[in-house]
Amino acid sequence: MIATSKDSKTVVAGVNSTPDAPATVLIGAQWGDEGKGKWIDSLAADVDLVVRYQGGNNAGHTLYVDGKKIVLHQLPSGIFHEGQVSALAAGVVVNPAQLVIEMDKAAEFGVKLTPNRLWLSGRAHVITPWHIFLDEQRESRSHGAIGTTKRGIGPTYSDKAARTGLRLGHYIKSETRTRWVKQMRELHPEFNKVWADRSEAWAAFEAAAEKLAPFVTDAESNIRAAAREFKKILLEGAQGALLDIDHGTYPYVTSSTTGAAGACQSIGLSPHFIGQRLGIAKGYVTRVGAGPFPTELHDEIGKTLAAKGQEFGATTGRPRRVGWLDAVALRYVSEVNGLSGVILNKMDILTGLKEVKIAVAYRHPELGELREMPWDTEVLDACEPVYISMPGWQDQVPSSGRISDLPKAARDFVAAVEEHIGTPVLMVGTGPNRSDALYR
Ligand code: GDP
Ligand code: IMO
Ligand code: MG
Repeated sequence: MIATSKDSKTVVAGVNSTPDAPATVLIGAQWGDEGKGKWIDSLAADVDLVVRYQGGNNAGHTLYVDGKKIVLHQLPSGIFHEGQVSALAAGVVVNPAQLVIEMDKAAEFGVKLTPNRLWLSGRAHVITPWHIFLDEQRESRSHGAIGTTKRGIGPTYSDKAARTGLRLGHYIKSETRTRWVKQMRELHPEFNKVWADRSEAWAAFEAAAEKLAPFVTDAESNIRAAAREFKKILLEGAQGALLDIDHGTYPYVTSSTTGAAGACQSIGLSPHFIGQRLGIAKGYVTRVGAGPFPTELHDEIGKTLAAKGQEFGATTGRPRRVGWLDAVALRYVSEVNGLSGVILNKMDILTGLKEVKIAVAYRHPELGELREMPWDTEVLDACEPVYISMPGWQDQVPSSGRISDLPKAARDFVAAVEEHIGTPVLMVGTGPNRSDALYR
């Protein structure tokens, strides 16, 4: 299914892959929660290695294994396949205690993670109770709150950029870990108080070091070697392209490079190793946290979609904001990331609506009609969507099979999406399980 073999020139759902490229990257093409976990888990069946390349435990990737739900925050969503390696690359930020909890949870599902099966980058930066404190503090301001997950993501990436961060390879050694704590005490007068107030969290932070130590390695070098050997690699994005630090709706973004290029930078992997660039989008849009959202619905349809789609954050439990599919934003994401194909997910949730809408342009009170996504978040905030409206479909979508098996109105919807984003829809999601998928 995933195109990767040098000899076979295999295809992903009907689209020619670059024959020399062993890696496929899958990114969220909206504001996160598009269904990456389910699709990574499903596509991972055909690969040798799955790599998470950015973000931390702000992510919440839901999958169902033998009908049982599991939400992964730190581990790649491919761990449930035997004989396969999972890795966290340099661009990821790691909450050590959370990672240990998750590894234990995976063990309950029968997944025994050994150092041969899980590579943790020594270069990845570590989220500490100090960073979580800073995130909470910044979010409590009356102005300028982003609506973060309060997992310490922004402050950890800030320390990385300021060159005062703690890398995983240094965290696992008590000497370098203690040196970092000492440096923080000198740099920040408040650090001692946070140390005293959060003693339990610091104890868990310390305790996890020994457990993670055997897994910490030069993950990037291993991944490059796998790429040279033409192992099939799936690069797992977290968050979404509209939450990208540079190309998203700044400042209402996360602090990492969520797009396809982020995978190359995180691993130190040449772009020529990447064949397919897949973007996953829901047939509508959701967003958690603050920031512009032109197609947001505040009516009964929005409430229906939220309830039917169970749109609550997998990490924080916050209700997700819901709106119509935004083809202006999706076309922009496709262009920024050179998407070779789109997965249109949760199409089953749209079933039963009388009409379905797609935003194909924006209207700004002063600038008039805009066809391109504006870079300025304030401009975007003032935009109203220009919609096309299409008839909905009442028949259930088939849970598996081909896209051509969809009811006619749903096929027309898919075709309209393709037309307006200029990118083929290769797969359609029809339910939360691995097998709930339609292919071209
Ligand atoms: P992620 O962060 O991109 O991995 O997505 P989340 O796990 O946060 O949110 C996606 C939600 O939709 C989860 O509850 C999934 O179980 C569910 N889901 C995924 N794909 C489908 C689909 O095609 N149809 C339905 N109904 N639910 C889906
Ligand atoms: P997955 O991988 C949806 C959002 C937060 C907030 C902004 C910044 O499950 O799709 P942060 O804690 O990263 O500093 O928060 O980004 N956000 C997500 N929204 N899905 C996610 O991850 C998200 N991770 C962060 O709600 O608006
Ligand atoms: Mg999620």
